[in-house]
Amino acid sequence: MTASTLAQWMLQSNSTVILTGAGMSTESGIPDFRSRTGWWKNIDPRTVASVESLQQNYELFREFYQMRIQSLTDCQPHHGHEILASWEARGLLTLIATQNVDRFHQQTGNEAVAELHGNIVTIRCQSCGKPLPLGHFMDNAVCTYCKGKLRPNVVLFGETLPQEAWNRSLREIQGADLVIVIGTSLEVYPVNQLPAMSKGRLVYINLDVAGNSHHFDLLIQGTAGEVLAEVDNYLQGTMAE
Ligand code: OAD
Repeated sequence: MTASTLAQWMLQSNSTVILTGAGMSTESGIPDFRSRTGWWKNIDPRTVASVESLQQNYELFREFYQMRIQSLTDCQPHHGHEILASWEARGLLTLIATQNVDRFHQQTGNEAVAELHGNIVTIRCQSCGKPLPLGHFMDNAVCTYCKGKLRPNVVLFGETLPQEAWNRSLREIQGADLVIVIGTSLEVYPVNQLPAMSKGRLVYINLDVAGNSHHFDLLIQGTAGEVLAEVDNYLQGTMAE
């Protein structure tokens, strides 16, 4: 019932934006942040994912991101990511605005992606800003140009979001007929402000839809992979008729 409603809304919409969070990738084996098994249940983000940790506790900072980058090599995008890529190819999606740093949306073929929190697969020097190969970071190297500290292009606590990704997400969400929010707790500012910027219909897909204080027109409880597959089934049936 709810999946079929979403499929209908997608077919009626001239502009649909998807906003994803870590729950989009848990079915690929990547932990989220705030669930029972999430990263921030065991580690205080200030000690490994903040500007202070980069400046004052670099070894721990580097170890944390090396571990996350390394664990990505054992994980792959799942069927839900593939469905989102097929929706873009079929003209059903305007943009994926994502908080995820794994690049899985791009890996499965989505081209219209705004990385609101950057990514952990590209590296730059914290001092001179020059890009460097991922391998240098994994090998504990310093910047080849200025001997500065290397870091992933991820947004740390205490940093502002990439301007272009933010502006693009805001613009598309403001103009969207439909915004589908998948697998995010919406606890993190400023991304959690984005859904309310839309005048269109708002849909929330999450394992846990209870206790969400944001206003949504439709709540769908379930895993991202299962729900997207169900919606896609309705779309395929309707579009084939
Ligand atoms: P959270 O861990 O805060 O929220 C993940 C949400 O996904 C929770 O509401 C879960 O219930 C839900 N979830 C988990 N598995 C799911 C599944 N298979 N299907 C559907 N829903 C599922 O992660 P985010 O909201 O993405 O920032 O966190 C936002 C930011 O906080 C992250 O981008 C990260 C973190 O600090 C940075 O690293 C800059």
